[in-house]
Amino acid sequence: MSGLLAYCRPGFESDCAAELQEKTALLGSYGYCQTKAQQGYVVYRCAAEEAEHLAKKLILNELIFTRQFIAILAEVDDLSSDDRVSAIQLALLDEGLQEVFSAIKPAGELRVETPDTNDGKELSKFCRKFTVPLRQGLRKAGWMTVKESDRRPTLHAFFISSMHVVIGFSFSFNQSPWLMGIPRLRSPSDAPSRSTLKLDEAFQVFVPAHEREERISSGMNAVDLGAAPGGWTYQLVRRGMMVQAVDNGPMAESLMETGQVKHIREDGFKYRPKKKNVTWLVCDMVEKPARVGELMTDWLLAEDCKEAIFNLKLPMKRRYAAVAEYLEQIKQKLMEEGRGRFEIQAKQLYHDREEITVHMRWL
Ligand SMILES: C[S@@+](CC[C@H](N)C(=O)[O-])C[C@H]1O[C@@H](n2cnc3c(N)ncnc32)[C@H](O)[C@@H]1O
Repeated sequence: MSGLLAYCRPGFESDCAAELQEKTALLGSYGYCQTKAQQGYVVYRCAAEEAEHLAKKLILNELIFTRQFIAILAEVDDLSSDDRVSAIQLALLDEGLQEVFSAIKPAGELRVETPDTNDGKELSKFCRKFTVPLRQGLRKAGWMTVKESDRRPTLHAFFISSMHVVIGFSFSFNQSPWLMGIPRLRSPSDAPSRSTLKLDEAFQVFVPAHEREERISSGMNAVDLGAAPGGWTYQLVRRGMMVQAVDNGPMAESLMETGQVKHIREDGFKYRPKKKNVTWLVCDMVEKPARVGELMTDWLLAEDCKEAIFNLKLPMKRRYAAVAEYLEQIKQKLMEEGRGRFEIQAKQLYHDREEITVHMRWL
């Protein structure tokens, strides 16, 4: 049986499954999820025709707990170490498969991946070595273009162990551009805190590469609520912005020395900028999610910022249902009191633990 395989943070499989179940049902698909705690992925079982349809219509950017998903072409769980390539070629020879997935062939790129678990990390060295021979084998079998192409679908070989692989594909217009759905970011040695990477990742995930220069650029004004010691402010400063950093706690001296930061010792829930010239509002205050969501919505409604990025802490239980409710409240308010179309995206980023990151703006 075919289906989808969704990559998620280990420990969040049930949230990923709950979301997949709901979103696929909205698209008229009634498969079922198979998952185990801490395995770092969820399998949604359905017929091959449905999997191909979902690969196009289930929008990855609209999923919170899925980093990447693939439509399943084949699964082999008895790979022997002497000839894995032939076994994978053989599994892909299935006639029914060829028919349903004829539009996928040839794929333009191959990614050899693992779950984001400790076992997965151990396998990644093997995966790196295996990529070249597998790509050659798939080219010979007509499953891949001779030259890499980003206009064709991508093939994924998702290794659960060195003997067990799931082969699937994603469409170039509905996929994460990164291996395993995780952007590789370098941790800057001079940033005041490690959480700096969260905002860096959020910019990469929520703002498409071709729009970044225009939407995240030098000279813009930004407000950082709950800024201390300055990991997020660091990312804004690095991009040439002028930042109002709101926090009663101390900001890193190195940031203050840039001359781009004004430290405001006020309550982040009360502070508002004097002028309507702020492009980016970011907020990392640890507070009740409903309260943070309301504050962010009010800033947008008052046009005190153009775009906002903020964290919402997750509750202990029924995390997907709770998050869906917070987001629904925000959407309702923006629809009722807003001035028109808006975009809202939410993701559990690689650097998020018990939280998700949300981005919103007027269109
Ligand atoms: C998780 S830390 C922020 C870390 C920061 N983003 C960084 O990368 O360095 C949360 C911060 O929110 C601040 N905070 C919490 N409640 C606040 C409030 N009502 N007004 C202003 N700051 C607040 C705390 O003082 C704390 O420094």
